[in-house]
Amino acid sequence: MPAEHTDTNRANWDDRVEPHLEGYRVDRFAASPDYLSDVVREDVPLMAPFLPGGTVDGLALAHLQCHIGTDTLSWARLGATVTGIDFSPASIAAARDLAAASGLDDRATFVESTVDDAPGHVHETFDVVYTSIGVLCWLEDLGAWARTIDALLKPGGLFYVRDAHPILNAMDDERDDGLLVVGRRYFPGPEPLRYDDEQTYIGDPAATIAHRTTYEWPHSLAEIVGALLGAGLQLIDLQEHRTLPWAALPHMVEEGGDYVLPEHADRLPLAFSIAARKRS
Ligand SMILES: C[S@@+](CC[C@H](N)C(=O)[O-])C[C@H]1O[C@@H](n2cnc3c(N)ncnc32)[C@H](O)[C@@H]1O
Repeated sequence: MPAEHTDTNRANWDDRVEPHLEGYRVDRFAASPDYLSDVVREDVPLMAPFLPGGTVDGLALAHLQCHIGTDTLSWARLGATVTGIDFSPASIAAARDLAAASGLDDRATFVESTVDDAPGHVHETFDVVYTSIGVLCWLEDLGAWARTIDALLKPGGLFYVRDAHPILNAMDDERDDGLLVVGRRYFPGPEPLRYDDEQTYIGDPAATIAHRTTYEWPHSLAEIVGALLGAGLQLIDLQEHRTLPWAALPHMVEEGGDYVLPEHADRLPLAFSIAARKRS
């Protein structure tokens, strides 16, 4: 990824940390020892069939693009020893603070690195490599992503990802008429998409985000699966889901803490999940 794109995105993510500490309700996480992030609560049953004994308890887990650590530390609360990796120094600092405030710093390590460079910064291998929700659009080269996953996994280890469905990312997200219209590229292209948004997905006040430009890369489902297969991983599960943790389209409505299409939910997948294994 050109350094200019990495630096631009990193500055934006550093700016998001302050508002996200409030928006993610980090105070609630530290105050209540049983509290798990919504994302991890949903991933637990999806991953369970592929984990020994159905649990991460006692396992070493690496979390790519860990942001401020709420998901990473949720896995620690479920018994894993965790390593969170993110390229944003502000995110890593916030995650370390949250680990200390939650009494989890003895089983949580946070490393500042891009996904591509992670094997050079993390010198151990893991039973589980995990990444979830709002992650793949930030990566240009899924070949490098898959090679990082392979490098971090122990033989026989599990990789799991859940993210927005690539076809959802291609939908026109500014319509107020409820129609599902493909308004953007589905397939990857030579140039990233450039955005200059005033708010992030939690609706932060515009003034808190000084660096508003971001670069994002669309990835097709075949590209995602192909990258994992290309790194030698064995695909063991692929699912498509009707819910997403945020309202990606204006007419999506909240249901049970997630967002759904109120009509025609059977017409469009909102998320996908993949489980893959490194060969023993
Ligand atoms: C939406 S967040 C992570 C998702 C997580 N479920 C959450 O909500 O906390 C995306 C994260 O990706 C990180 N990120 C973006 N590009 C990256 C890259 N090339 N290498 C490492 N981290 C990156 C950002 O700093 C941000 O913390």
